[in-house]
Amino acid sequence: MDAMTTDISALERDLLARIDAASDEAALEGVRVEALGKQGAISNLMRTLGQMSAEQRQEMGPKLNGLKDRVGEAVVVKKAGLAEAALEAKLKAEAVDVTLPAAPARTGSIHPISRVMEEMALIFGEMGFRLEEGPDIETDFNNFTALNFPPQHPARDMHDTFFFAPDAKGERKLLRTHTSPVQVRTMLSQKPPIRMICQGRTYRSDSDATHTPMFHQTEGLVIDETTSMADLKGVLMAFVKAYFEVDDVEVRFRPHFFPFTEPSAEMDVRCDRSGGQLKIGQGKDWLEILGCGMVHPNVIRNCGLDPERYQGYAFGMGVDRLAMLKYGMTDLRPFFEGDVRWLRHYGFSPYLLPGLAAGLDG
Ligand code: DAH
Repeated sequence: MDAMTTDISALERDLLARIDAASDEAALEGVRVEALGKQGAISNLMRTLGQMSAEQRQEMGPKLNGLKDRVGEAVVVKKAGLAEAALEAKLKAEAVDVTLPAAPARTGSIHPISRVMEEMALIFGEMGFRLEEGPDIETDFNNFTALNFPPQHPARDMHDTFFFAPDAKGERKLLRTHTSPVQVRTMLSQKPPIRMICQGRTYRSDSDATHTPMFHQTEGLVIDETTSMADLKGVLMAFVKAYFEVDDVEVRFRPHFFPFTEPSAEMDVRCDRSGGQLKIGQGKDWLEILGCGMVHPNVIRNCGLDPERYQGYAFGMGVDRLAMLKYGMTDLRPFFEGDVRWLRHYGFSPYLLPGLAAGLDG
């Protein structure tokens, strides 16, 4: 092998190694210009062919052409490889990990009404009460008549009812004024023993700082053959202790009137209002929190059960009022205004659910 041939092989090895090592397209283009550009090493060699003898040219021509082709091809292959790697890197950089958690700053909150209903359902659930449901639009029968409100009786007026226009059959539906019609629905559709609560929206034409036309109630009903007023007292005391998270609570039952219970009572709990703060359980003041009583035999009969055999107790309470007492709101109206500042202040984290074992604080 003569010197020229050795130089050509060394040049090829050097160029191919540098092409291979080029880390990006700019570096590769630099090597290409150095080899194949106008003043490039290979181009310069090609120009020497013209001064060679015919014999020399016959030998060197194919060698130099081969060198030019191989180096040119290596550049093209490397260029394609670099472009692919660049695309790969770009895709990787732009990839979105869909398994990442959502931005925590934007989480909403649980409304105090939802939270309090959850707490109540949990407490009564632990005591064996099933959750029942009924519609907001009720019949006059379920809301009043079956519950022993006689026609034209003034107790109907007490409720400031929203009535609908009479339908084709002359029946006048209404927005339920309390959750008690769900007692009727449950007794009409289930066999005793019954032990249920119902929670939901109720409506009365009334509006001030502590009344809104739509509000919420929780209703309870127990029907069997042996239940007494003592059971009612035990269940309600257990409820108050769990709900207000106090170890001891004194309660009193004040005689009252409801058409659907006999005897009827309002239950008050001991409280302390000194120092502008309300403490439930002990103290010198009383706070009314719910209505209750033994289910009136007429109601049991109206719901198709035999009052000689079955009796029981019922209770009803205002969810909104109990939320205000526990969490310290003084005005009911903002509950339903949807102001996010109020919701942020009084709302609850959706990640901390109440549980009796973990405590109602979740
Ligand atoms: N329905 C009554 C009201 O809205 C509350 C109530 C009182 C419900 C006594 C009851 C009960 O089940 O026994 O004022």
